[in-house]
Amino acid sequence: MKKGYFITFEGTDGCGKTTQIELVSKYLEEKNIPYVLTREPGATELGKKFRQILLHHDNFVADTCEVFVFLADRAQHIAEVVVPAIEAGKIVLCDRHTDSHMAYQGYGRGGDLAKLKYLNDIAVDGTYPDLTFVFNVNLETASKRVGDKKDRLEALGIEFHQKVQNGYLEIAKNEPNRVKVIDANKNIEEVFSQVKEHLDNLI
Ligand code: TYD
Repeated sequence: MKKGYFITFEGTDGCGKTTQIELVSKYLEEKNIPYVLTREPGATELGKKFRQILLHHDNFVADTCEVFVFLADRAQHIAEVVVPAIEAGKIVLCDRHTDSHMAYQGYGRGGDLAKLKYLNDIAVDGTYPDLTFVFNVNLETASKRVGDKKDRLEALGIEFHQKVQNGYLEIAKNEPNRVKVIDANKNIEEVFSQVKEHLDNLI
């Protein structure tokens, strides 16, 4: 039996990826294609605890601690959810994954990219996305979408998110076959039609 595909959705906070994942889920449902919808951080029972620490711990969190907690979440998620679904022939739609690690902890926080990649390779144990969408959005619009109730990472401001966004574009430049940049400033239908084109090419 043919194995499934692993598709990830990436971008800065407020880029609109969640809406697009929902549209992709509906599209696969209409086509009777089995899929699993998941996310990082926090898709597993253990991961919910990590998510709480990562997004809502109000006191000091060291950058290195943040790296390892995201990776712990990813390792559990890969083993418990992603790999079993792919092996069962399903399409895994994942809200954030490896590229968030490189864009946020690497380009955003200024972490050493080679070391981060090495650590992430351990966490994912050979499972990488087949296709990744990066939703590229005007950062003022994105910040307004997120609103006033921002979590620990959303609250880092436009300068931080600009570095994250530049990071995503750099990743896309380096891996054009896997990573597709989507113009997320357009309306929902126009954004989805860009997504659908790449999705149809894969499946
Ligand atoms: P997300 O679930 O998209 O937040 P929301 O509930 O607001 O939609 O992502 C959580 C945050 O975690 C987001 O700011 C990006 C960040 N993040 C990292 O910094 N590194 C990572 O490896 C991952 C997966 C997420």
